[in-house]
Amino acid sequence: MDPSRSGAGCPASRIAAEFDPFGDAYQEDPAALLAAARAEEPVFYSPELDHWVVTRYRDVKEFFRDTKRFSASNALEPITPLGEKARARLAEYDFAPGPVLVNEDEPVHMRRRKRLAPPLAAEEVAKLEGRIRDLVSSYVDAFVARGTADLIDDLLWEVPAIVGLLVCGVPDEDIDRARHYTIKMGMFTWGKPTEEHQVEIADQVGQWWRLSGQLVDRLKREGGQGWVPTAIDVHRDDPELVDDNHLQNMMMSGLVAAHETTTNATANALRFLLSQRDSWEELCADPALIPNAVEECLRFRASVQCWRRKALVDVEVEGVTIPAGSRVLLVIGSGNHDETVFDNPQELDIHRPNAKRHLAFGMGAHACIGAPLARLEMRIILEELTRRLPHMRLVDGQDFGYLHNASFHGPRHLRVEWEPADNPVDA
Ligand code: HEM
Repeated sequence: MDPSRSGAGCPASRIAAEFDPFGDAYQEDPAALLAAARAEEPVFYSPELDHWVVTRYRDVKEFFRDTKRFSASNALEPITPLGEKARARLAEYDFAPGPVLVNEDEPVHMRRRKRLAPPLAAEEVAKLEGRIRDLVSSYVDAFVARGTADLIDDLLWEVPAIVGLLVCGVPDEDIDRARHYTIKMGMFTWGKPTEEHQVEIADQVGQWWRLSGQLVDRLKREGGQGWVPTAIDVHRDDPELVDDNHLQNMMMSGLVAAHETTTNATANALRFLLSQRDSWEELCADPALIPNAVEECLRFRASVQCWRRKALVDVEVEGVTIPAGSRVLLVIGSGNHDETVFDNPQELDIHRPNAKRHLAFGMGAHACIGAPLARLEMRIILEELTRRLPHMRLVDGQDFGYLHNASFHGPRHLRVEWEPADNPVDA
């Protein structure tokens, strides 16, 4: 790709040359790092990634919605190409996933989506509220008398994984087995792992792929309820639309879609709400404010910072031509901080009237079908923590750690402390 075609027409535009989505400055505040791009060079070519980077709200939204000029086929490709050893390790597990919803194009995508999405509709996932609340309560019970916790290790890593398995229809005893396999797929797809680390991740991916096949086989034999069992019904009715490979991949990637995204979104929300004490206290005093706070947190610090498309034709945008065949990085986190859509975007405002216009779940034909579930989990976790640990505070001076990931965004640790003697509710 010729970098002279970058936005400003400059062969080495400063913005393009400095853009490093794995670097510390980006991890610290992706939207702030791209403020200059939004203002001066809203679309630029990144030689580092070999992707065109799109930063303004209107363009990110438009590209998401345009299924004629953009393909979703590259959505799950590792952004750092896999080395030979990692590919060989995956082959040992017969790892050969075909497309699922997220990386399938029209017209097949919509035919499948119509059949597969109903179990994740808001009215269906609302039925899980009691079970999710019990699960969250049991995790909080385990640390509430301790006075300190790492909210990632003690709550936020496991709960969305278990809920994901539950939604996929995995029986209780298999949930226990499967939760140990939950893998950091974000690193596989969006990270910059060393060759050795790639092999380690490939091993986990391979094991999870294999186990996903076994879980599907059991559901086929014994039946069940939920997202994958519904897909098994569709498979029996129309095996061409949903084949065996699709079922196995759906189990595998469905859990990934449901897990780290929600862990990071909730961790980001808690990190920033606890950093802004008056907002946290408002939520403790009036939990009815939590749903809008969830939207604002998703806007303020999206857990999926970027998504991808491939241009099917030459596309003119913001005075730049993106050539057919190019890969495009849609920076959701930057669009969510676009000054033309959100007033004072760098401010976390739990009362923001248009918070819900964020792009955290994508937009259009591929918009996240798990959004109602993610919102439900985030609301319940915030409700339970504001109710039981309103006096919780972030441990001063802690290092949240970075994931060094171009898209999946959240702290590695979230250490909090409180006086157990002041707990308003007993375990
Ligand atoms: C806060 C949590 C989550 C975030 C930030 C998130 C984000 C996204 C994004 C950005 C997309 C791509 C949209 C596009 O290509 O236009 C997507 C698609 C998708 N998500 Fe989520 N997601 C979350 C939770 C979930 C959960 C809990 C599930 C499942 C239970 C899920 C399942 C899916 C599926 C199946 C798709 C593909 C839809 C399609 O292509 O038709 N997601 N999500």
